[in-house]
Amino acid sequence: MEYSIEVTGLSETEKLASVLEKNIGPGTIILLSGDLGAGKTTFTQFLGRALGVKRRMSSPTFNIIKSYTGKCTVHHMDCYRLEDSDEDLGFDEYFNEDDISIVEWPIYIEEFLPQEYLSIEIETLDEEKRRFRFSAKGTTYTTILEALENDFPSD
Ligand SMILES: Nc1ncnc2c1ncn2[C@@H]1O[C@H](COP(=O)(O)OP(=O)(O)OP(=O)(O)O)[C@@H](O)[C@H]1O
Ligand SMILES: [Mg+2]
Repeated sequence: MEYSIEVTGLSETEKLASVLEKNIGPGTIILLSGDLGAGKTTFTQFLGRALGVKRRMSSPTFNIIKSYTGKCTVHHMDCYRLEDSDEDLGFDEYFNEDDISIVEWPIYIEEFLPQEYLSIEIETLDEEKRRFRFSAKGTTYTTILEALENDFPSD
């Protein structure tokens, strides 16, 4: 299942994140792809806030993984620096059924990704406009996407 939506400006992006948040729960894995500056960290911050994370979610480029407390534990990974590495940072422990994981640059940890996830590709259309392409792998995520499409109809 795939679903695509165009959003303009940070406030609409925040709305999209908060509508997505209503449809996810413990165990959710979200992969965020897109060019440098597409808005992966920005979307993570909005989603984190909606999930009740009070701390500012900065880009975890240097530690790769940062964990936060919200409605549940939220892990934020930025795998950009693993481009030339096949190191396993213990990803299995993070991708569990109690926590939520949000992964930037998942392409660099392909071999450690779980079977099922929600993948979001962000494309920069212009300074303020972004296209979000969602795709679901697995039935849990298909259900999430159907709900999202219903709550945030595409143009
Ligand atoms: N509609 C929008 N949605 C998301 N970000 C937007 C939007 N419009 C403008 N921006 C801006 O685009 C920039 C996105 O930067 P961000 O750090 O989130 O990108 P990134 O994809 O995480 O990049 P990197 O690959 O370097 O980690 C921010 O400066 C943000 O304010
Ligand atoms: Mg980022």
